[in-house]
Amino acid sequence: MDAHEWDIRYRQARDGQDARLWSALPAKLVQDTVAPWKPGRALDLATGDGRNAIWLAGRGWNVTGLDFSAEAITQAAEHATASGVDVDWLVADATTWQPGERFDLVTVMYLHLPEALLRTLFTRALDWLAPGGHLLVLGHDRANIAAGGHGPGNPDILYTPELLSSIAGPEHILRCETVSRDVAADPESPADTGGVALDTILVATA
Ligand SMILES: C[S@@+](CC[C@H](N)C(=O)[O-])C[C@H]1O[C@@H](n2cnc3c(N)ncnc32)[C@H](O)[C@@H]1O
Repeated sequence: MDAHEWDIRYRQARDGQDARLWSALPAKLVQDTVAPWKPGRALDLATGDGRNAIWLAGRGWNVTGLDFSAEAITQAAEHATASGVDVDWLVADATTWQPGERFDLVTVMYLHLPEALLRTLFTRALDWLAPGGHLLVLGHDRANIAAGGHGPGNPDILYTPELLSSIAGPEHILRCETVSRDVAADPESPADTGGVALDTILVATA
């Protein structure tokens, strides 16, 4: 999907029953993983309507949230204002954008791109980390299709631990595995009402 198609999706969600496309909070695994880390500069790539960036800002992180959908960023800014937090919002294409600084944390949640683009993006994101910084990636695992979990059905854009570990390299990896998520208790979107979803998590260091 291009930025225009995402704009349409976000507008339809805003005008729909749930008023938003994704949940208001990050996945519990994201919250639990980040909680012990000392807040610093964070970048949330493909931030969507901002749930991860806003949660990080509420915990004291100095956050930039980037998405190529202008509508997503408009909604993210509204949610941040309603939550009383400040986030630097950017409309940009993550695959070509260049930061002018380093980050203590780069998060990428449920961004699904063709493998070549993903490899380039995650390799660059590792380069953007400050010493001791972390890259945290969470997305739909390829096995999620067979498991019947909510999410994209095209295996070519889904993650596997093998794929993500081959991008990050063993010297950087703290955790890389398939994890099970109870979507009723821990939904990606308001449409997630039950069942199990399989995600891949990558936690890597600079
Ligand atoms: C499934 S949503 C996830 C949003 C958010 N990370 C979350 O977990 O709530 C994927 C997001 O990636 C964004 N996106 C897709 N390709 C992108 C790109 N090349 N650059 C920036 N954003 C992109 C879309 O606009 C969309 O907001």
